[in-house]
Amino acid sequence: MSLIKKLESSPYRALGEVRTARERSLEDVIETVRERVLENHAELVMEARLSRAKRNEVMALVSELIVSGDLYVGRLTRKDLAERIVQELCGLGPIDEFLDDPTVTEVMVNGPHEVYIERDGVIHKTGAQFSDEKHVLELINRIVGSAGRRVDKSSPYVDARLPDGSRVNAVIPPLSLTGPVLTIRRFPRRYSTLDELVALDTIDPRVAEFLKACVEARLDIVISGGSGTGKTTTLNVMANLFREDERVIVIEDSSELRLSLDHVIYLQTRPESVEGKGKVTIRDLLRNALRMRPDRIIIGECRGAETFDLITAMNTGHEGCLSTVHANSTRDCLSRLTAMALMAQESVPLTVLETWIGSAVDVVVHQARVEAGARRVVEVSLVGVSRGTLQTATVYDVENRRGCSELPEFFSGKVRREVGERLQGALEALNGGDAS
Ligand SMILES: Nc1ncnc2c1ncn2[C@@H]1O[C@H](COP(=O)(O)OP(=O)(O)O)[C@@H](O)[C@H]1O
Ligand SMILES: [Mg+2]
Repeated sequence: MSLIKKLESSPYRALGEVRTARERSLEDVIETVRERVLENHAELVMEARLSRAKRNEVMALVSELIVSGDLYVGRLTRKDLAERIVQELCGLGPIDEFLDDPTVTEVMVNGPHEVYIERDGVIHKTGAQFSDEKHVLELINRIVGSAGRRVDKSSPYVDARLPDGSRVNAVIPPLSLTGPVLTIRRFPRRYSTLDELVALDTIDPRVAEFLKACVEARLDIVISGGSGTGKTTTLNVMANLFREDERVIVIEDSSELRLSLDHVIYLQTRPESVEGKGKVTIRDLLRNALRMRPDRIIIGECRGAETFDLITAMNTGHEGCLSTVHANSTRDCLSRLTAMALMAQESVPLTVLETWIGSAVDVVVHQARVEAGARRVVEVSLVGVSRGTLQTATVYDVENRRGCSELPEFFSGKVRREVGERLQGALEALNGGDAS
């Protein structure tokens, strides 16, 4: 039957039929567009889950596909259709609005019915709700999937770094009794130069000069402090002082460091698979790194047995390594290093391990949180061995500025002469003159 005839016989039905010929179901259109977008722009879609700007780019792509494919769904304008598709591709459901809000620094989902956010350092409970635990779980996997991770019964917690720099942690039942819990720490401020940390009053300018001399002298440095005290940030800043011609290998559990240097290789550990296989630890990566002709090795954080391998590397000619340790003081940092190394080598007597640490580590930089959310380097110590025991000498102490102004005897043997002179100069500038 011709269209004219159809219209004559039953004008309304015929019109309806003409429409269905062009019109497709919403699901169908979403699927078509999703496939085409993911084919070429999967990364953009992942980034768009946490970034408004990226989401606008996805929106432009989707609109283009709708127009070029002449896609059409009844009762929806093309703009509405595009929005629905973008939401479907990139949306994070009930927490979307918080991720759009740049003043929100932390989003915390405690099971389906409690969502908290942090704004200006203060936590607020929101009215956001998920339909059930499954809903939260889907969202968690959508988010951590962007970083190539997933959670399920067999690996019920996950830590991930998203493309935009946000940090995500999720822990689900049976480990969590509160239902699936998701914590997103957003927009971690990136500081990349020592000058920025000096401007923030995190590092005294003379201490900064001294630390710079330590990095240039290729000393082995450990940054210690409590969690969230800015250890990783300071490590990143110090690593940016490496020379451009050095080959740097970075080893981390979840990738956080971003060096502003060219020749850097980033390695990340892998948790075991669902079948309990394929686990790769910091130790494994460090051993492999030693075969990669590194000039500098960075271990994001020492938490366990890898400490032994790190101090071994430091003691066998790998100069200029950097790491962080969770500890309460420079002294505590050294005992933690010893305890962690002991995990790997129980047969080595404690006193022997201590001297190994003393000869491996050259400098400990201790950082703390101070009033009003600021972070500060509060102590710097030199480390060495004398008469078979581990020795330290305070170079800087925020409360009692007077540190040593000459390289201590136990330490001076550690450094080549020309380097020693440079360090000595920095030390005099720090503690010589007007030490009060
Ligand atoms: N010097 C600093 N001053 C103020 N805030 C900082 C400083 N360094 C880091 N931060 C902030 O503190 C948080 C934790 O920093 P991070 O370096 O990851 O600490 P850690 O490694 O000790 O856990 C981040 O949100 C970061 O933006
Ligand atoms: Mg850290």
